[in-house]
Amino acid sequence: MGVKAILKVNGRPHTVDAPADMPLLWVLRDIIGLTGTKYGCGIAACGACTVHVDGQAVRSCQLALSDVGKGAITTIEGVGATPVGKAVQTAWRDGEVAQCGYCQPGQIMQATALLAATPRPDDAAIDASMAGNICRCGTYPRIRAAIKAAAQGNRA
Ligand code: FES
Ligand code: FES
Repeated sequence: MGVKAILKVNGRPHTVDAPADMPLLWVLRDIIGLTGTKYGCGIAACGACTVHVDGQAVRSCQLALSDVGKGAITTIEGVGATPVGKAVQTAWRDGEVAQCGYCQPGQIMQATALLAATPRPDDAAIDASMAGNICRCGTYPRIRAAIKAAAQGNRA
């Protein structure tokens, strides 16, 4: 059955009419047209589809439209408007983190949620937070370095 919902995405309201069980990932990509969020596995096992709902990192491939509620959604297209997201994107760019790039929107969203909650994470906290975000290109060392660089910026 379809539901009509008003989703707040990157600070703007979007009225959508879609099946209640449609994953948020497809609502964002196919209905709203925000294609920065990627499909990887579809089973919450890779992190490519990570977005924020009320600042929390969530796997949008596993969150049904009917379960989004009134949460404020942030995607890779909007995360740079937040100070932490901007710091993370700058560190990613300066550190030339991306290789093919496919996993990187999810990596950035996960890293931003980490640093928003824990401004100075140690290695264990970084590993624990990022463990669910898979990178087939193996950019993990650069991801960790960029998170540390962004955390340095948090101290300034
Ligand atoms: S596509 Fe959602 S976790 Fe892989
Ligand atoms: S940069 Fe290619 S999968 Fe991560």
